[in-house]
Amino acid sequence: MVYVTRKAHFSASHRLFNPTFSNEQNEATFDKCNNYFGHGHNYVLEVTVKGLPDPATGYVIDLRKLRDLLDEVVIDKVDHKHLNFDVDFLRGVIPTVENLAVLFWQQLEHRLPSGKLHAIKLFESDQNFCEYYGEPVSIPRYAAVAEHHERVVV
Ligand code: NI
Repeated sequence: MVYVTRKAHFSASHRLFNPTFSNEQNEATFDKCNNYFGHGHNYVLEVTVKGLPDPATGYVIDLRKLRDLLDEVVIDKVDHKHLNFDVDFLRGVIPTVENLAVLFWQQLEHRLPSGKLHAIKLFESDQNFCEYYGEPVSIPRYAAVAEHHERVVV
């Protein structure tokens, strides 16, 4: 088996909070990432696909196709966006690096032209990142994560 990785960058803002927590709980849990009007991160995303090289091309996956797919289903949707409001597939999700990695996986998994998705590594900063290998994870969606914020702001 051979593992091929494509790296991509995006910048996005988010606010981490759980609408079922009190303000004090949210502050204690999410600290700076609980900042009311959000804040930004420069994310680095690494997507690894595994497979056997095609004998005719030597490719596990054509990296141009992987780049285009990644742009279409992830990067174009999240780059320069607010992750609490702007992204259809993140609606209601607490946009931690963990939850983002799992939902990015779901965006990509069944759309690869060849090979099999092996890993998603997502860096929120040089110091903080997570890895996901596709084990089942259930991620709650809180209707209020976006709506509550909008209502209060208005
Ligand atoms: Ni943050």
